[in-house]
Parts: sequence; structure tokens; C-alpha cells
Amino acid sequence: TELDHIRNFSIVAHIDHGKSTLADRLIQLTGTVAERDMKAQLLDSMDIERERGITIKANTVRIEYPAKDGQTYVLNLIDTPGHVDFAYEVSRSMQAVEGSLLVVDASQGVEAQTLANVYQAIDAGHEIVPVLNKIDLPAADPEAVKANIEDVIGIDASDAIPISAKSGLGIPEVLEAIVKRLPAPKGDRNAPLKAMLVDSWYDPYLGVVVMIRVMDGVIKKGDRIKMIQTGALYGVDKLSVLKPQMVDIAELGPGEIGVLTASIKQVRDTRVGDTITHEKKPCDKALPGFKPAQPVVFCGLFPVDANDFEDLRDAIEKLQLNDASFSSEMETSAALGFGFRCGFLGLLHLEVIRDRLEREYDLDLITTAPSVVFKLHMKDGEVRDLHNPADMPDLTYVDHIEEPRIKATIMVPDDYLGDVLKLCQDRRGIQMDLTYAGSRAMVVYDLPLAEVVFDFYDRLKSVTKGYASFDYQITGYREDHLVKMSILVNDEPVDALSIMVHRDRAESRGRAMVEKLKDLIPRHMFKIPIQAAIGGRVIARETLSAMRKDVTAKCYGGDATRKKKLLEKQKAGKKKMRQFGKVEIPQSAFIAALKMD
Ligand code: GTP
Repeated sequence: TELDHIRNFSIVAHIDHGKSTLADRLIQLTGTVAERDMKAQLLDSMDIERERGITIKANTVRIEYPAKDGQTYVLNLIDTPGHVDFAYEVSRSMQAVEGSLLVVDASQGVEAQTLANVYQAIDAGHEIVPVLNKIDLPAADPEAVKANIEDVIGIDASDAIPISAKSGLGIPEVLEAIVKRLPAPKGDRNAPLKAMLVDSWYDPYLGVVVMIRVMDGVIKKGDRIKMIQTGALYGVDKLSVLKPQMVDIAELGPGEIGVLTASIKQVRDTRVGDTITHEKKPCDKALPGFKPAQPVVFCGLFPVDANDFEDLRDAIEKLQLNDASFSSEMETSAALGFGFRCGFLGLLHLEVIRDRLEREYDLDLITTAPSVVFKLHMKDGEVRDLHNPADMPDLTYVDHIEEPRIKATIMVPDDYLGDVLKLCQDRRGIQMDLTYAGSRAMVVYDLPLAEVVFDFYDRLKSVTKGYASFDYQITGYREDHLVKMSILVNDEPVDALSIMVHRDRAESRGRAMVEKLKDLIPRHMFKIPIQAAIGGRVIARETLSAMRKDVTAKCYGGDATRKKKLLEKQKAGKKKMRQFGKVEIPQSAFIAALKMD
């Protein structure tokens, strides 16, 4: 396809403003997918995405659009996630396209992630077309939201397109605007091949699939290619475009987006952000590449059944191919055996990866308490990263401890501002700024990341009835009075439950945790003390009383099938339990114990 007949774009929006629905309509109206194959949220292909109703991975589709000028254009759409944990996916996709549709819910206005995502688009040099969605809603106020976009983001919104992605209203205008208002890609067909490795994933039938955006030159089936960073060499077996299912194509030229397979065995060979060129006639300079993602939350993942360790290793390696933003390192624990210490971009990211490992790879996992990375300044001058509270050295060697801080931007209607300020204050926040756009407040806080990663977002949503939006960036490290709190169950320390807390909050956190654990751990035939301790000092204590008698005895009656069912249920339940000394702790307890109410 000629360059001037290509448009590459992404859609940026705050979560739930209708990005995926708009993508569905664009695909539908252009007949890209036959009507009978159409389903809602077409691009959210993962089960987890469909269940949670969110986009996690960026997805791509090639659309052919016959425009009003009589010409047919190829439109490549990259759908991107909206949640703050997946900002990394957004920034990556942005580099592969020239323009963005900015979708803003006309009944809500600009939200925190609208801002964060649109700034990424602006940074990537995109042309931006504002789109006002959900104008079918009675509460929609397109004029006010236009002013709001100009006010808060500072871009011209006078030509914003009013649409209803739900009913299809305004979709033809969006398609015309993509062609008329977004720039065509640039590139030189005769130059040596230079293609960006945008994404890669593992397909059970095809092996490693690599998504590329060609900048210069032409790539053809059969070509010998080289990945510049990793130095890997391969022959192209198959080139396809995504419609959104794979359709084979003979070549991809400048400005085009597609996928290739090349019998790639080594998952490590395909690094997102790498430059692909021809082995024989390479381009002289590699593309700048992507900023590596910085995991901020760490936790241990252990197989419930020790025999599954190799399977877990394999699954992690495959998932990392699909999601370069999570890291892993082998770990051994006295209680849990062999496993991995994994790093994530946030708690939602952690949950999604754990879900994917359990479902896509059929593994039973134990997740240990998540932790951020602390910096230990040792007395001998050494600075150590502490990824796991269990590794906390003896305090006599530690001079001071620093923790990561964030700049949090929260947008909220006036009425809920008081609740938001209280929540931030409770989490050791320092207010930096407070401004208004109409009746919505924008408040900026400096907060410790550790107070945010577990359940801040959930709390924020509940105190504001879902009206607040939130986004954050890590700003740096700061010293504070932090201590390690251990949890003892039946007088044995459970490493996987130890956490780092602020000294002033240790008592209340300790009390909350032991109370939670008392509910989370099932009763045993004996009494179980549950304690929280700092150093050797117990700061909170609960006792789980013993089971009085065999409670199942009377259910058994004489009914054999019922008995069998009960036993099976117990067996299934067992799989999710782990033995600590004489006590069985359910897998779910490790994260649940940390949530603060
Ligand atoms: P993520 O994929 O999670 O980032 O969200 P999204 O921005 O893709 O939002 P999505 O398309 O999933 O839409 C969110 C909700 O808004 C869904 O329940 C849609 O049905 C609804 N919605 C989308 N467009 C419209 C619209 O034009 N009008 C109305 N009334 N509802 C809409």
C-alpha cells in the first residue's frame, strides 16, 4: 500500500469511556469482520479481559476504508489499555503510530488517565482528534466537555466529533476524520529494512509471533532477518496482517503494521523495542527502542505442588514474551520451596499475571504478600534493594531505609473532595496542589507507593462512589521510619506474610492483619495463636479457637453420594492450602490479609 493511503492510529481514553466499543464500531462499519462473527469488545481477546471488562494488552486490527474521496485507505488501529498499571503498553503502542483518537465520555469529562494517556500521545508527536462519546446519555454535555478538554489538556477541541459508540451515531465522521486529519506515515521504500518490534506473544500452533511496524524498506516472506539488539538471525516463514485474525500477505512496506513468524525457538530473541533489519543489507542505525518498564511491586509465586516448578518456569518465560513488563527471578523459601520472585507494574498487573498463569497454564499457585522495593542504606555505606521483606537483614547493620514515593493526580467532583483528602492523609500523603476545573477538583499528592499498591484504588473508588479517577508516577525515594513486621502462626514465623510498615502504623496494621488472618485460616483441632511482631516484640495477638468436634460427622449421615461430594470438595480445597508447621493456610490469605479496610 502507498504511504499516503495508510493511516496508523491508536485510541486513548480513560477507562470505561468507550474505547473498545468505538473500536468495535469502526471494525463493524467497515465490514472488517462479518456480521455473524461480530461480538462486543472484539479486540479484548483474553478471557480475563472479557470477564473483567478491561483491556490489558494492546491489540491491533487492519481496516480497509473506502473514503468519500473515492480512494480506499488502510487504517491500522492499535487499541490500548486504560488502567494505570498498563501505561507501559500504551507508551509502546504510541511509538508505532502517527495519530490518536482521544475519546472522552461526554457525560464525565476529562479524567486522570485521559490526561496521562493523552500526554503520552502528545509526547510521541501524535496528531490528535478529540471524540466526545456517549452523547446518547441524558447527562451528556458535549459543549462543556469541549471546554473542559481545552481547559485541562490545552488542545483545540472545537472540531471534536460528537458520537455514540453504542448506537453508531457519528462513526462515519470518525472514519473520515482519521483519513482527513491524521497524517500519513513517512518512510523510504528503497532504504534498507528498518522495522520496530512492537510486541510478541506465544501461540500454541505458530510458536512465537512478532508484531512489527515497518519504518523503511520492505520485508517479504522468505527474507533473512536480524534483530539488532539481540543479534538473532531468522528466516521469515510467514507474514500476515491482523483483521483481527491473521491473513497472509506477501510483503509489508513502509508505514505498514503486521506480524511475522520465523520458527523462533528462543523466547529471549524477541525483545520489544528492538529493530529488525535484513541480514545482508542492514540499516545503519537502530531505532531508539523503548524505555524499559520498571516493576514496582514484587511478590513470590510458588507452585502449590512442588512438582510443578518446571512447568511454572516454562509458563513464566512464555508470558514474559507477551508482557515484557514483568520480571522474575528464582527464589527459595523455607516454607514454600522453589518458586519465583516476580516484579509487576501494580497490583492489578500482579493479579492479571497470576490469573493468566493459573488459567492459561493450568497451575496452582501461592502468591506471597506483595511488597514495593525499599532501599537499605547499610552502615558500611552499601545501598541494597530490598525486594522481599523476608530478606531484611539485622537492624544493627542498617543505617536507614528509604521507600519509593509517587506523585498522585486525583480528579474528583467537589462533593467527595473531603473524603479523598482524608484517604490520602491516612495513607501518609502530603498535599502538593489543589485546583478546580468547573465543579471538579484536581488534587496532587505526594504519597508512599507502599500505601497505594494494595488497595488504594479500591478505597478511592468506594469513598467517591466511583467518581474519582487516579493516576500516578514514581518520583523517587525518601527516608522514613520503616520496620519489618513478622507474622507468627502457631508460634512459627510465616516469611511469606512479613511486611515492611511505618513504625507509627505498625500496631494498627498488625492488629488488622491478625484479625483478618483469624477469619482466613480455618479452624484446626487445636488452638492457634496468631501474632504480629517487630523484632522479638509481639504487638498484636489473636487466638483461633480449636474445632469443638468433628463438624462433618453429622453431615455424613448415611448418604454415600453426599459423603463422596464432601470428600471431593475437601480434596479440591486442599489443593489451595499450604502447610506451615502444623497449620494449613489457604492460598488466598496471603493477599487478603494485607487489604486495609
Ligand atoms: P477499557 O477497555 O477497560 O479501557 O474500557 P473502554 O474505554 O474500552 O470502555 P468500553 O468500550 O468497554 O465501554 C465502557 C462502557 O461504556 C460499556 O459498558 C459500554 O457499553 C459503554 N458505552 C460505550 N460507548 C457508549 C455510548 O456511546 N453510549 C453509552 N450509553 N454507553 C456506552
